[in-house]
Amino acid sequence: MKNRITEILGSQYPIILGAMRFITLAKMAAAMSNAGGFGLIAASGMKAEPLRKQIRNARELTDNPLGINIPVYRPNAFEALEIAIEEGIKTITTSAGDAGKLIKRIKEAGIKVLHMAPTVEMAKKAEDAGVDGVIAVGTEAGGHVGRDEVSTLTLIPQVVDAVRIPVVAAGGIGDARGWVAVHALGAEGIQMGTRFLVTEECPVPEVYKQAILAARDNSTMIAARKGFPLRALKNKAVMAIREMEEKGANQEEINAFVDKLGSEHKNDPDYMLMPAGQIAGLTKEITTIEELIKRMVEGANRLSLELAGDFES
Ligand SMILES: Cc1cc2nc3c(=O)[nH]c(=O)nc-3n(C[C@H](O)[C@H](O)[C@H](O)COP(=O)(O)O)c2cc1C
Repeated sequence: MKNRITEILGSQYPIILGAMRFITLAKMAAAMSNAGGFGLIAASGMKAEPLRKQIRNARELTDNPLGINIPVYRPNAFEALEIAIEEGIKTITTSAGDAGKLIKRIKEAGIKVLHMAPTVEMAKKAEDAGVDGVIAVGTEAGGHVGRDEVSTLTLIPQVVDAVRIPVVAAGGIGDARGWVAVHALGAEGIQMGTRFLVTEECPVPEVYKQAILAARDNSTMIAARKGFPLRALKNKAVMAIREMEEKGANQEEINAFVDKLGSEHKNDPDYMLMPAGQIAGLTKEITTIEELIKRMVEGANRLSLELAGDFES
């Protein structure tokens, strides 16, 4: 499959492994790139040398292109970009902030960039800043989501109409049906996060994987709605964050509480913070990344043939 997104990524398929902080590291990124998709190493929270090491480790596992994701608001954003340049990364994604802050250096280095945008306004702003494409992410997604809670179904066609650069869809895609649906909406590629949490290569604890396998359509909720909204599996931790917020806690207090939870409740599914999207409810088995991509590609081919002619009168 060839289009403007595969051209930017240099991958066989326009499918991106959504960056997941401290989860999508060398092993997952390389497995994704070996499967024909585009593997991303999450730079969020990583110091320079560990990030460099992850990139080098991934390179030992695959010859195919892979990239890194840089959340712009993080203090290590500029440093992570320098590492990407030094290590010869050709495509990156940026998120959570103004892509314009990094764009001059990105362009000087000849790197391609896709920026994540949860609204039409933010997608247009990223286009004006000079990014090569946008990843429009709906509120169904796992992890941090936009404050305005615009859904993927409504966001994608509006972003596609508003920008000239290619659009990747993220948020709520878990199988070939989701891919074909957003393709019909005008997206030239997809990014998935939650579905990759239940792959063999994913390093999250087994309790996290099992909680996703057991999840239903309504098993997630958004915590920290007024601060930095985060969609995660509903449990005591998320309910406690909601309660803190209702009582007026600010983002710093919430962050401190989350850090405390992380250290005190390792592997306790009631109190671990487990970011996941609404598509967790669709996910019923653990597969390898290779198998997942194979099913996505075969399924999308089959579905598009089945759909041909459905709308003739
Ligand atoms: C556990 C987890 C961690 C995430 N960490 C990041 C991150 O560090 N940077 C980022 O841009 N997006 C992050 N995301 C968002 C994903 O990259 C992706 O856009 C999102 O999961 C897509 O929606 P889906 O979960 O419905 O597939 C994270 C998502 C999850 C579930």
